[in-house]
Amino acid sequence: MLLDDIREILEEAQKSIDKAESMEKSEELRVKYLGKKGELTKILRTMGGLTPEERKKVGQFANEARNAIQNRITDKMDEFKKRQQELKFKAETVDVTEPGKVHVLGAKHPITQTIDEMTRIFMNMGFSLAEGPEVETVFMNFDALNAGPNHPSRDMTDTFYITDKTLLRTQTSPVQARTLLSQDPPLRIISPGRVYRCDTPDATHSPVFHQVEGLVVAEGITMADLKGTLSEFARQMFGPDTKTKFRPHHFPFTEPSAEVDVSCFKCGGKGCKVCKGSGWIEILGCGMVHPNVLRIGGIDTEKYTGFAFGIGVERIAMLKYEIDDIRMFYENDERFLAQFR
Ligand code: DAH
Repeated sequence: MLLDDIREILEEAQKSIDKAESMEKSEELRVKYLGKKGELTKILRTMGGLTPEERKKVGQFANEARNAIQNRITDKMDEFKKRQQELKFKAETVDVTEPGKVHVLGAKHPITQTIDEMTRIFMNMGFSLAEGPEVETVFMNFDALNAGPNHPSRDMTDTFYITDKTLLRTQTSPVQARTLLSQDPPLRIISPGRVYRCDTPDATHSPVFHQVEGLVVAEGITMADLKGTLSEFARQMFGPDTKTKFRPHHFPFTEPSAEVDVSCFKCGGKGCKVCKGSGWIEILGCGMVHPNVLRIGGIDTEKYTGFAFGIGVERIAMLKYEIDDIRMFYENDERFLAQFR
């Protein structure tokens, strides 16, 4: 009997739907029982030979069966969807009590920080930046700076020669010579950079270190401008109460020449470890640009005068941060560098 067949299909369908383990499987079962070529549809096609009454009865039952199967499948699908959503929520849960990730920030190297600070001070006074090569000509490094052929700084033990005409610059002063040759006064430049000397490394010597060179050339520049500029630099670099002392010295490229001491910024001049008890700390060399240097640069020495200075960056950084071994700067020890964040 058709009714029995339908009942059988209904029971079988319900059983397999209950057992279905995925949405795909449920969909498969829907097609299998309710689809166009599905089992229930197949049975309904054979209703042709029935009486109208029988047809009504069978049709009604078939509809009920169809609805029952459809509802089972819908319930099953909903169950799957709910379970999927629960899984998704679970996977997306954020534990707000979990500790955050620590990002370790890097820092500029203390030498770079010191150069930046010096550059900032001079640029605020109107200086601009100039650059020169580290592989320099003997001419720029010595001759153009009035260091005659017998000057002691030319000695092979101090200088890394590359050929007999080129070397690793021993100072940033050749940038002075280059600037004088390439620009017309008024000039006001500083030039930070790396320099090289054939020294055996120890606590105060390194074959590579840094300097900041300065040069001012204009009409009417005097020693007073030199003293004013460098005293102001010292106050900004080491504190407003810093005093400066200009001691006569000698450099081939300046006349007169001086070394500048600042009152100890640690003890204020009373004497301590940093200033080795003297109350003063030497920080730079300077002087009025030698007329020979101006002349080589093609500058009219009747009209123009100038001053120049050279500051050792490591020395300033060592004093400021109380570092007692210059080699610390070049060893890239994380524990050392992390202190300058
Ligand atoms: N070049 C010198 C040195 O390396 C430093 C220096 C002294 C530079 C006096 C100057 C200067 O421009 O005028 O020791």
